Amino acid sequence: MDKIAKIKELVNEVIDPSCNQKLAENDSIKHIGIDENNAVIMIIEVADKEGNHAKQITRDIAKIVKIDLGYSGVKIEFTKRKLRNKEAKTLLIASGKGGVGKSTVTANLAYALTRLGKKVGIIDADIYGANMPKIFNATDHKLMGDESGKIYPFEKDGIQMVSTEYLVDEKRALMLRGPMLGKVLKLFFEDTLWSEEIDYFLVDLPPGTGDVMMDLKNFSEDAKMVIVTTPQESAAHIAIKAGYAARDLSQDVIGVIENMSYYEVNNEFHYIFGKDGGKKVADELLVELLASLPITNYDKIICNETDMAGIIYLNLAKKITKLL
Ligand SMILES: Nc1ncnc2c1ncn2[C@@H]1O[C@H](COP(=O)(O)OP(=O)(O)OP(=O)(O)O)[C@@H](O)[C@H]1O
Ligand SMILES: [Mg+2]
Repeated sequence: MDKIAKIKELVNEVIDPSCNQKLAENDSIKHIGIDENNAVIMIIEVADKEGNHAKQITRDIAKIVKIDLGYSGVKIEFTKRKLRNKEAKTLLIASGKGGVGKSTVTANLAYALTRLGKKVGIIDADIYGANMPKIFNATDHKLMGDESGKIYPFEKDGIQMVSTEYLVDEKRALMLRGPMLGKVLKLFFEDTLWSEEIDYFLVDLPPGTGDVMMDLKNFSEDAKMVIVTTPQESAAHIAIKAGYAARDLSQDVIGVIENMSYYEVNNEFHYIFGKDGGKKVADELLVELLASLPITNYDKIICNETDMAGIIYLNLAKKITKLL
């Protein structure tokens, strides 16, 4: 066994007293190196790096590294574990064209997952056109922070949510350039005090495949993606392109959602925007068409459980829990 692997094997057994688990259990050893003076350098992720916990870990590791393994010394840098639940799954909601209903689908899917007993966090990553607060009818909320610069998400009906709209003055568009975009995503993904119970993060993306999609890879490596389209030929065409572009950025596209598929009156279905656009996108991308959602009354963005759309959303949520 090589030296690094040996150190890792032994140090993995050390208990992190802040959570009473072995370092191995949280995959806490982030780096091991040996410097030119034969001292071991490590980066260890812990739940709490203040207080006595880190000292205790340092003592335990020093004993292993210096006494048991005979190295000249040990330098440990502690980093704080992200608060996001490690088990939580992330779904990115993307589209080619704007206005096809990503945000509407995100919100309704959040409600449907909640009805299945899941805890959901929504990240409104539509940095320039955030409208999740509007959908949640909570535009005048302001995000509160704690002393260390972390923020608390907004919560309604058990769903937690963050949005850039909560970071800027009312009616003032947020001007963001590349690096700033990364900062906002970091704030939402890493420096938000999300509930530890969250099972699913839904990320409402801006239309198209822009900077956000690229930056997202840094924050949510194993996220999956669904593509929302409307039935029109033009929308489907751009959705296919977006799907390929997403794959080029190594995003894992798991399905297509067709929105505004038909309008139903008295059991008659009217295909106002044409038919099968969603199926075409799904076939082209070799994924499943996960749902075809009706056109609903515009004043009722969030569907009830018993609405036809609500039932479709519930089935969609079930499918998604299986696919994630
Ligand atoms: N199934 C539907 N039936 C009726 N209206 C809908 C439906 N889905 C979405 N809408 C309406 O269409 C408009 C656009 O929806 P939404 O904002 O969800 O799209 P989007 O893809 O997020 O847009 P953007 O690209 O601007 O972020 C909204 O006014 C929304 O209420
Ligand atoms: Mg939107």
